[in-house]
Amino acid sequence: MQTLEGMKRSNACGNVSETEVGREITLCGWVSRRRDHGGLIFVDMRDRSGLVQIVFDAATMGETAFHEAETLRNEFVIAVRGDVRARSEESINPHMETGTIEVICTELRILNTAKTPPFYIQDGIDVDENLRLKYRYLDLRRPEMQANLILRHKVTKVMRDFFDAHDFLEIETPMLCKSTPEGARDFLVPSRLNTGKFYALPQSPQIFKQILMVSGLEKYFQIVRCFRDEDLRADRQPEFTQLDIETSFMSQDEILALMEGLIVDIFDKTLGKKVETPFQRMTWEEAMRRFGSDKPDLRFGMELMDISAYVKGSDFKVFASVLENGGQVKVINVEDYANIPRRELDGLVEYVQGYGAKGLAWIQYTEEGIKSPFKKFYSDETFEEIKKATGAKTGDLLLVIADKSSVVAQALGALRLEMARRRNLIDPEALRFLWVTDFPMFEYSEEDKRWKAMHHPFTTPRHEDVEFLQSDPGRVKAIAYDMVLNGVEIGGGSLRIYNSDLQEKVFEAIGLTKEEARQKFGFMMDAFEYGTPPHGGIAFGLDRLVMIMAKRKSIRDVIAFPKTQSASDIMSHAPSEVDAKQLRELAIKSVVKKREDA
Ligand code: AMO
Ligand code: AMP
Repeated sequence: MQTLEGMKRSNACGNVSETEVGREITLCGWVSRRRDHGGLIFVDMRDRSGLVQIVFDAATMGETAFHEAETLRNEFVIAVRGDVRARSEESINPHMETGTIEVICTELRILNTAKTPPFYIQDGIDVDENLRLKYRYLDLRRPEMQANLILRHKVTKVMRDFFDAHDFLEIETPMLCKSTPEGARDFLVPSRLNTGKFYALPQSPQIFKQILMVSGLEKYFQIVRCFRDEDLRADRQPEFTQLDIETSFMSQDEILALMEGLIVDIFDKTLGKKVETPFQRMTWEEAMRRFGSDKPDLRFGMELMDISAYVKGSDFKVFASVLENGGQVKVINVEDYANIPRRELDGLVEYVQGYGAKGLAWIQYTEEGIKSPFKKFYSDETFEEIKKATGAKTGDLLLVIADKSSVVAQALGALRLEMARRRNLIDPEALRFLWVTDFPMFEYSEEDKRWKAMHHPFTTPRHEDVEFLQSDPGRVKAIAYDMVLNGVEIGGGSLRIYNSDLQEKVFEAIGLTKEEARQKFGFMMDAFEYGTPPHGGIAFGLDRLVMIMAKRKSIRDVIAFPKTQSASDIMSHAPSEVDAKQLRELAIKSVVKKREDA
């Protein structure tokens, strides 16, 4: 093995261009691919910037040095001194950024060898994700993964520049906090100096950023890690990053406009894409009614339509009983798909059952006539009326769900997305931003048999709804807003309560007694008695935003070292058991039996 002694990197592999032709350069990097042509070896050499072709020629570099080159294998780390040469017309590689030149090696140093990697270090590999995560250091060597992290870096750079220019301060808040669960489950950290007591990792800096407003810092932001012990999905991690923001004296409209400006900047300065403002706005109620979702994907239509009025009062038990019980019958129109295979229809029934629907019906407006499981219960005129009301054409397929409104929204909303994917209705280049506003203040938790804050209990109810806090919490709307991009909730925020009386009423509505509220949030309530300005803010999910910008399906692809679905890191093996001594110091005893090694 050799060292870099006396050699100095002059260029990055991916940046060598025709302007260097004739010059001597020095490169450092990895062997990406080698082709041995007897007396001539070609190596694609890689570093973070890209690839360049190195030519090892026995005739020009001498026998001994050439023998060294013959030992090169993929992922060896090398330094190369050589001369840049223009490639001949027929050997130009149009698929390579540096494809018009090559480097004729005059000196090779092998800085390190490498084992054969368990998968190819290249884009678009078809490998089990767990294998990629186990060998994350190799996975991150792949250009597409590096591009994701570079994009992420650029996005956070634009964010910092933007907020600096708008007079915001980046302020850090604690990672070891008081546990105030309300929302997701906390990650707990035992205290050694205060045995028997625990810190919680922050689910968000919500309380601290509001207290910073009490302190008169006025404009705060932070790019901050948050921790939530929840069940994971493709767009959820137990630790994830927020761009967290809080402001004083700003209205909802001012905050939303400022955030639109941020988004315009981010897309312009990182992807060169122009985003139109102002963003479309829609109340939560409208979003649920038209799309069955509080984060509608507006890249396609296929809206939910209510046909209750046309199907009521018939002998068809399914619809009759749903409508009698205050439910609804709604449809989506899958255009030009009346001839859907029966097998697929049966599969769709199972699909919606996964979302809580009891069943699925349909109307197929085919050239040969109408096909529907409830055809015999209605006249031809009724089917014509439905056709007219929904704007369906001959050749279209209506999918029908009858249930209470929350189930219809959930199941038909999910079916709408699924059918759009299957029918290829989603333009992958489109960027559809949307503000969803006027969220309900509370949602009822069947599990806990009480009302819970939908966003968080510091969100202010709309002024005109305050009187219903006690009598009818379900109808109270909040001054809360989510930013949605292509059907993903990328940010959420609200104006906050800054009046202790109102705060107490909200705590009461979610079933917190005065004592409980004091015990959990006393420090915040105290702070609020010393001159709290009106304030509000928002937090963006950085991982989700970058995921969409990088056109990835999972936030794991834009996080250097993410966790698996079961919240573990299979590279470093976290979480793990700890020494008995560590536990003794913390006065902790585990009741979990040590797993017998099979
Ligand atoms: P909220 O809980 O809506 O609001 O979170 C803000 C944004 O963070 C992202 N996000 C997540 N990303 C990845 N993994 C997760 N587990 C995860 N959970 C949330 C989402 C979401 O829109 N303090 C408030 C904000 C405020 O009111 O200012 C808050 O945390 O993109
Ligand atoms: P069943 O009486 O359960 O056999 O249902 C008769 C037909 O009604 C089925 O073929 C379904 O197409 C339809 N159906 C059942 N439940 C629902 C529902 N919740 N929404 C829409 N259609 C339904």
